Amino acid sequence: MSGLYLRLSVTGRCDLRCVYCRPGPVPRLADALDGPGLVRAARLLAAAGVTKARLTGGEPLLRPDLPDVAAALGRIPGVTWSLTTNGQRLAGMAGMLARAGFSRVNVSVDSLDPEVFRRITGGGDLARTLAGCREAERAGLVPVKWNVVVLRGINDGEAERFAAETLDRAIEVRFIECMPSPGGLADPEERYVPAAEVRARIERRFALTPLPRGRGATAELFAIPGARGRIGFIAPHSAPFCAECNRLRLGSDGVLRPCLCRTDGLDLAALFAAGATDAGVSAEISGALARWPRGLRPDPARAAPAAPMHLLGG
Ligand code: 5AD
Ligand code: SF4
Repeated sequence: MSGLYLRLSVTGRCDLRCVYCRPGPVPRLADALDGPGLVRAARLLAAAGVTKARLTGGEPLLRPDLPDVAAALGRIPGVTWSLTTNGQRLAGMAGMLARAGFSRVNVSVDSLDPEVFRRITGGGDLARTLAGCREAERAGLVPVKWNVVVLRGINDGEAERFAAETLDRAIEVRFIECMPSPGGLADPEERYVPAAEVRARIERRFALTPLPRGRGATAELFAIPGARGRIGFIAPHSAPFCAECNRLRLGSDGVLRPCLCRTDGLDLAALFAAGATDAGVSAEISGALARWPRGLRPDPARAAPAAPMHLLGG
């Protein structure tokens, strides 16, 4: 099997409490894998067919050993690396990621208004996140992807302002439909804004030209004619992409899962702790990949993610 896309949650901890995720006053769940364990897992998963991988959290930049881990991951042949961050610590670390061989970063930029940003993120500082985005652009981690989870009555009025940011910057602004998450929004239905509505809002001011969609990509991409950046819509509700999904997730609990919405998994941390050899772990991974349906479809019994986003890697 090849062309798999891995999301690797390196920590369940986060320094923010975004309203749609809300990890709470940091769960004292220890991260299951140490640095060498993460690198071992990534190496074996690369051998099993992973060609694209992303570090997530929680907030991955909170891991103290991240520079060492990132450098070792970047040396695994055949894998393209990126990282999802809330951006609060990205300024000062973007250069390190670029030197480690990372190609891109996704940054949560849920509002361009400092007060609204603070409200959505539970205390985040917009200026720090934007400084991190700038540094990532300078470091060549482009296009810097801005994740905007659209929330009715909170940031849905900012769509055109976000779109305008793509005119002269190497960024991709991605509007994301909010998903219900355990511990997240109390009123996800009221906050939900369909991607088509966001697009219509932007089209009141700008023309949008469709761009080709990559294999297994979750975003429908557009550009304002002549703009340097792009605009994407990620619509898990109104345009589910499960049938094309080629993803695997390794949670901060050390469990490999095929989908956010499934409860089954392969506990790599337990295999490592039990002293399994590389050959033994690889055989378990191949077995799991063969068992898990291609298209990695959600378990029909589970409509919503099985565990909080910050443990599963978003
Ligand atoms: N709905 C949609 N996206 C979410 N993310 C986290 N929680 C949710 C949710 N409930 C995604 C966002 C955020 C990233 C860290 O994870 O894209 O920017
Ligand atoms: Fe933290 Fe990311 Fe969850 Fe926000 S979405 S609280 S930054 S883990």
